[in-house]
Amino acid sequence: MKAWRLRSPPALFTMSGCIGPGHGLSMVEIEQNGAMTTATAFDRNPQLVVPRRFKRNAPQVLAMAPSADTGLWLLQYMAERIGIPDLAGLDILDFGCGSRFAEAITTHDIPLRSYVGIDVYKEMIEFLTQNVNDDRLSFHHVNARNPKYNKSGDPLMPETILPIGDKRFDVICMFSVITHQLPHDAQAIFAILRRHVKESGFLFFSASLGEGDFGYREHDAEKPTELSVYSKDLLNELLEREKWRVVSIEPESPRDLPILDSILCVPA
Ligand SMILES: C[S@@+](CC[C@H](N)C(=O)[O-])C[C@H]1O[C@@H](n2cnc3c(N)ncnc32)[C@H](O)[C@@H]1O
Repeated sequence: MKAWRLRSPPALFTMSGCIGPGHGLSMVEIEQNGAMTTATAFDRNPQLVVPRRFKRNAPQVLAMAPSADTGLWLLQYMAERIGIPDLAGLDILDFGCGSRFAEAITTHDIPLRSYVGIDVYKEMIEFLTQNVNDDRLSFHHVNARNPKYNKSGDPLMPETILPIGDKRFDVICMFSVITHQLPHDAQAIFAILRRHVKESGFLFFSASLGEGDFGYREHDAEKPTELSVYSKDLLNELLEREKWRVVSIEPESPRDLPILDSILCVPA
C-alpha cells in the first residue's frame, strides 16, 4: 500500500534560487515498509524514479526534501561558488555520483553540456544507464576499493585509469565522497581527477574538516570511512601534491544546505 502527502518546499529552496524550472510543492511517496521515495511537483514530470536502494544520501538528507531538489540546490551552490550563474555549456564529471544529481538534472531540466557520473555501485550505475533518457548524461562503474561502499574492490592508485578515455571537464565534483575516504585513497582520487580537468576548469568537493594538527581521523574508529575527518593542513597537502590549488573553503551547512565543509580548487 502506498500513501501520498504533500510537502512544502523548505525556505532555502526559494531563498537560494534555482537552476531551471521546477518550483512547487513536492509529493513524497511512503512505501509500505516505511521507506520513502520521492516524486515531483505539479509543474514537472519525474523523468526518473530511483528506487530507494539506489539512494545513497544520509536518511536526514533524504527526509529533508526530494533528492532531485537537494541535488538542484547543491548544483546551484557549486555554480555560485565557482562564480557562474549556472552550468550551461559545461562538461561535468561527478565522481562518486550516487543517483540524486541524475534525478536533479532530469527532473529540473538543468542546463549543462554533458554530465558523466562515476561510482562503485554497479547495480545503480546499470539502473541509471538503462533508465536515464537524456543523451547529455552517461554513467560508468569503477570497481575501486572503499571500506564502506566496496570492500572487495581493487585498490585505487594515482595511475588508476577511469573508463572515460582522456576526456577533460570544466567542472569535476564530489559530494560526500572524500568524507568516506582513507587518506591514500583521497590522494589517489585527486591524482586521477587532475588528469581529467581542463586547464580552465574546477574541482569542487565536500569533506569533513577538523581543527588542529591531527592529520586524519575517523569519526568512529570502529567504522572506517563512515565519516573520515581531515585537518585543513593534511587536505591541503594532499591537494598540493597532486597539483591542485585551493581557491576557497566554506564551512558546513551554508544557508542550511545539506553539505559539509566544501572546497573549491583549480589546477595549480
Ligand atoms: C554518500 S554517497 C554520495 C552520492 C552523491 N555524490 C550525492 O551526493 O548524492 C557516496 C558515493 O560515493 C561512492 N564512492 C565511494 N568511494 C568511491 C570511489 N572510490 N570511487 C567511486 N565512487 C565511490 C559511493 O558508492 C556512493 O555512491
